[in-house]
Amino acid sequence: MPRICFRCTASRNWRRARDRTSRDPGWHLGYRAGDSAPHGRQRPGGDRDGRGSGKLDAALAKLGDARGEVVDARDYEALQAFFASTGPVDHLVVTVTGAPGTTAFADLTMDGVREGVEGKLVPHTAAARAALPVLRGSLTFVTAASAGAATPGTAALAAVNAGIEAMVPVLAVELAPVRVNAVSPGVIDTPWWNFLDADAKAAAFEAMAAGLPARRVGTPDDIASAIAFLTENTHTTGVVLRVDDGARLASAA
Ligand SMILES: NC(=O)c1ccc[n+]([C@@H]2O[C@H](COP(=O)([O-])OP(=O)(O)OC[C@H]3O[C@@H](n4cnc5c(N)ncnc54)[C@H](OP(=O)(O)O)[C@@H]3O)[C@@H](O)[C@H]2O)c1
Repeated sequence: MPRICFRCTASRNWRRARDRTSRDPGWHLGYRAGDSAPHGRQRPGGDRDGRGSGKLDAALAKLGDARGEVVDARDYEALQAFFASTGPVDHLVVTVTGAPGTTAFADLTMDGVREGVEGKLVPHTAAARAALPVLRGSLTFVTAASAGAATPGTAALAAVNAGIEAMVPVLAVELAPVRVNAVSPGVIDTPWWNFLDADAKAAAFEAMAAGLPARRVGTPDDIASAIAFLTENTHTTGVVLRVDDGARLASAA
């Protein structure tokens, strides 16, 4: 049965997750048919020949035995058509974010709030809902530590991620025996941070790591191994697994 991930940002790490979780070689990667600007802000006009498919092709080349298809996770009808074509699905992992970054509450616009909801809460919900007729094993969302933090400038991000986390216990009961969990990352070194130039990013990571008990920002491997655990462990459901280098304990460090 296929295992589906929307969308894999680090194929090397996803291969590790897949190898840990299955003798079944096939992860089926869903990508959106569009482009995005730094910070996850989206630009219209992508298609099968656009940046999304180029990234998909690159990821597939690394994975070797996976299949992939370009799908816009904001497009519920496209998601329905996609899942109508897959047959039964073991595990669905949703990592999509188009949500904008931090904004002081005084500068927050209502368009920014809507973009946050449309960029993450809607795609996560839509992918889960569209997969429902074929999903057999588990559903894993990827949220963010902002949901439970009190970091100024993250009110909109926190609301979106807390909204997804709020669905986890509800769906764990409502969709049983399908298991429903989430991974909540702290700061992870991914292209999401590419709105900063290399020097600024290195300085920001160094400053953030200094305030963490584990003294480092996370890597995609850290998140992949958490997802592998949640898909593999058949006695775990309704859990939001925090993989944040102890960020919530930082004041005690
Ligand atoms: N990095 C961190 O520090 C961090 C911290 C906490 C939580 N997270 C969460 O971890 C997850 C992965 O984040 P990341 O750091 O890997 O972010 P990322 O590098 O920005 O990757 C997210 C990807 O989602 C894809 N996407 C956006 N809208 C989509 C849509 N409508 N349909 C299909 N794909 C879409 C984008 O694809 P394109 O590449 O084609 O634009 C983008 O590359 C997100 O949910 C994020 O909120 C990350």
